[in-house]
Amino acid sequence: MTRDLDHLFDQNVVWAQQKTRDDPDYFRRMAEQQTPRYLWIGCSDSRVTANDVLRLDPGEVFVHRNIANVVHTSDLNILSVLEFAVDHLQVRHVIVCGHYACGGIQRVLANARGAMFDHWLQPVAMLYRKHRAMFDSIADEAKRVDRMCEINVEMQVRRVAATPIIENAWARGQTLHVHGWLYGVHDGLLRDLGPTLSSIAERDALPSIDERVLAPGEPVSAVRRHALEAFGCCDEAGGKDAPEG
Ligand code: CO
Repeated sequence: MTRDLDHLFDQNVVWAQQKTRDDPDYFRRMAEQQTPRYLWIGCSDSRVTANDVLRLDPGEVFVHRNIANVVHTSDLNILSVLEFAVDHLQVRHVIVCGHYACGGIQRVLANARGAMFDHWLQPVAMLYRKHRAMFDSIADEAKRVDRMCEINVEMQVRRVAATPIIENAWARGQTLHVHGWLYGVHDGLLRDLGPTLSSIAERDALPSIDERVLAPGEPVSAVRRHALEAFGCCDEAGGKDAPEG
């Protein structure tokens, strides 16, 4: 048995003991069942861990992650996670959360090809090629990537909301909200891209993804929202949330 990873086992013991010291019933409760209210669909990027950025404990968020948080509508993995979360766990919220400076999105904009994960990113690449003139008109490379990160989340929100799993939940009157968020690896803040979808009618009323490419939304963090509320208007009091690149 290799010993290189002994430190991880040692850290695990420290963590488990700490948890038990803070809350003697912690693992007994965990062992009983999980009742998360949220399903997080995020990027595999090691910097974007759902529990940390949401400040949630184990048991509070059900998680699916893949490169660039892509919703492939024939991906058995994501569909199984989604079905289990919606039908069995009865989560109230499905959150598609991308992040700025996403390596997968950078790869798409660099027109990289040949690797399996380029194939994985194909829906994003197709959207980029379709609107290449618009994206390439953004001179700053980091801003171009960030804009694509945003539009990718909007596309994946539409795709997840089009699955029969979500449609059926809405059709039978289950309370379920679908959100599109962006996480800033540069400032630790989550931003809501809006709008939140809570019914088939709301989903059907969405502008097409092509329209959104041309008329982008403005993501808002809680820091900015609180500043706007405090000042009661839409000035730049809280600063813009989209990164300036
Ligand atoms: Co990423």
